[in-house]
Amino acid sequence: METFLNHNNILLIMAIVNENKIKINVGKVQNKISKKMEIFYNPTMKFNRDSSIILLNSLQKKKMIIGMPLSGSGIRGLRFLKELKKGIINEIYFNDYKEDFELILKKSLRLNKIKKDNNKIIISKKDANLFILENNGFSYIEVDPFGSPNPFLDSAVRRISREGVLAITATDTSALAGTYPKACARKYFAKPLRNYLMHEIGLRILIRKIQLIGAQYEKALVPIFSYSKDHYYRIFFRSEKGKKKVDEVLKQHQYFLIDKKLKFEASKFNSKEKESLKERKEYAGPLWIGKLFDDKLIRNMKKEKYTKVIGIENKEDVKFFEMLCEETKVDILGFYDIPEIMKRYKIKDGIKLDKLTEKLKKNKFKVARTHLSKQGIKTDASIEDVVKVMN
Ligand SMILES: C[S@@+](CC[C@H](N)C(=O)[O-])C[C@H]1O[C@@H](n2cnc3c(N)ncnc32)[C@H](O)[C@@H]1O
Repeated sequence: METFLNHNNILLIMAIVNENKIKINVGKVQNKISKKMEIFYNPTMKFNRDSSIILLNSLQKKKMIIGMPLSGSGIRGLRFLKELKKGIINEIYFNDYKEDFELILKKSLRLNKIKKDNNKIIISKKDANLFILENNGFSYIEVDPFGSPNPFLDSAVRRISREGVLAITATDTSALAGTYPKACARKYFAKPLRNYLMHEIGLRILIRKIQLIGAQYEKALVPIFSYSKDHYYRIFFRSEKGKKKVDEVLKQHQYFLIDKKLKFEASKFNSKEKESLKERKEYAGPLWIGKLFDDKLIRNMKKEKYTKVIGIENKEDVKFFEMLCEETKVDILGFYDIPEIMKRYKIKDGIKLDKLTEKLKKNKFKVARTHLSKQGIKTDASIEDVVKVMN
């Protein structure tokens, strides 16, 4: 616990919490995570921050200019300063519009014995869009808002530099995953799906929306690490400059079709076809049908000592990260889900996931577990092949 006077000369009693080796001031002691918190800190998003650190340590980039327009408590940036390898950070910008942000962050810097030397650390208290646009460009921007990232996408896309990395978190998954299809159409220009695939579809709808903004500025935004977890979606994009690259991205915006027997495919279908297909198939999109991960980056990420150095301590999170790495081996659109297949094909005797995987591999198919479902697999086998193996 710490006390100090805020900008209005009001005495604040601050709680101090630890995340990995960092101590932070988190505002008045309270037991509920809410937007109204004096300083926003959500411990359940630790893996979200861990993943930024593993990724930045694996990019093999030096002298990065890092922008944190929505810093909250500043925990992420403080961890960057302590946990990123030497030479990665050239400048790091902390910004948040909360009244006492600067004061409290400076306290946290002192608490962690981090010196605010030679302009390497720059702190401001502005509206996030103003903050982003006032700067010349960043090699990494972290957009981690409450809810939808929409209000910050245009400025962030404009200021991400060539080969820079744009990290986006979205917590409004209910629109993207089909609970509110109208909201999804308005905010993300696409039709969602409300079935076992909803989170993969939501993630891909969000990717396309962000890529469309990139296209306006001739920036091809290529997903390099994407996942859905708890109540949020997370995508890291590499920004590549050039018309041709943008056209390549746009070619991979298509619809997703699935029939009652769980046969699915990507399609560029037009509105006439849409009408005739409606009877037989469900559809979603348009959405990104391309890869969700960059293979080389994932190989590097796997080599990071994530349990010791990065400190993914929680066993569930370690499992989750390892599953993501495995999934990249079969980085394709859609997946199958054992209970769903049993239901649709009236199969009575279940099969264990490991057994199904083993049998498909014996038949020379590629197979990997997916983080998107406990009973799900990504495979290049057709539904007919999977059902044959299950019977
Ligand atoms: C989800 S929190 C950020 C959490 C933080 N990135 C972390 O890793 O713990 C969102 C933050 O954005 C700030 N914020 C929301 N809208 C803003 C805006 N328009 N300009 C500046 N800050 C804003 C809020 O004050 C809040 O601290």
